[in-house]
Amino acid sequence: MSKLNNKVAIVTGAAQGIGRGIALELARQGAKVALWDINADAVAAAAAALREEKLNATGYAVDVGQSAAVDEAFARIEQELGPVDVLVNNAGISRAAMIPKMTDEQWDDVIQINLTGFFYTTRAASRSMKERGGAMVNISSLAGQRGSIGQINYAAAKAGVIGLTKAAAKELARYKIRANCICPGLIETDMTGKVLSDEKLRAQYVGEIPLARVGLPLDIAQTVSFLASDESSFITGQVMGINGGAYI
Ligand SMILES: NC(=O)c1ccc[n+]([C@@H]2O[C@H](COP(=O)([O-])OP(=O)(O)OC[C@H]3O[C@@H](n4cnc5c(N)ncnc54)[C@H](O)[C@@H]3O)[C@@H](O)[C@H]2O)c1
Repeated sequence: MSKLNNKVAIVTGAAQGIGRGIALELARQGAKVALWDINADAVAAAAAALREEKLNATGYAVDVGQSAAVDEAFARIEQELGPVDVLVNNAGISRAAMIPKMTDEQWDDVIQINLTGFFYTTRAASRSMKERGGAMVNISSLAGQRGSIGQINYAAAKAGVIGLTKAAAKELARYKIRANCICPGLIETDMTGKVLSDEKLRAQYVGEIPLARVGLPLDIAQTVSFLASDESSFITGQVMGINGGAYI
């Protein structure tokens, strides 16, 4: 028996990067995975690649920043795959600028996707999971724990995700719904590609990580799989740093 056998799981932002790695790992552990992403072609291709490995995966084009779209997608998945057991909030964007130059639009876009979007999905999942329990795993960031230069919008949203997770864990525990949060450090994906392809910058960042390497999507995915499974049935409201020791 794999640890997520037949559980229905939604992973947002699953067309690439960390989300794609999480979707792959949950499917390998036996889950029926709904991959959500704003990029319709990319999410269809990501789901097809998982099916090539004989895994149970379906792609859905969903913008998590749109309340009605989230509710509709949730209803559709419950019809097509069954009641949702696991929600992984991962979709996120970055719009970096120093504080004096940050526009209202940059601020609003990041808060809308990285925080309000997490609320929309959490609300939809709570309505459904109330009947039978469930697990939510929210992807925050090291930036939400200690701030980040040029990312006041991103750091604020990610700190908000920590509060959102704790509030959800407290309020929803009575329904056997657990909510936990992961704060990744520097992980190799498209989001960090520009910084990490510069050898000098890469060496500088790695120099600040005690385990002396950049993380991989699998480093995050394996912990998500644990937090989504019954192996973590007494863990809720927690914030787990996965950062090679960058925040000690
Ligand atoms: N890469 C890192 O070093 C790092 C570190 C800490 C936290 N994180 C967080 O991990 C998560 C994934 O990051 P990543 O590096 O894989 O990023 P990425 O840019 O490689 O992938 C993000 C995915 O989210 C999708 N997405 C964007 N807006 C969306 C929306 N409105 N609705 C649905 N999908 C949307 C994108 O299309 C993309 O497929 C993000 O929340 C990010 O903030 C990343």
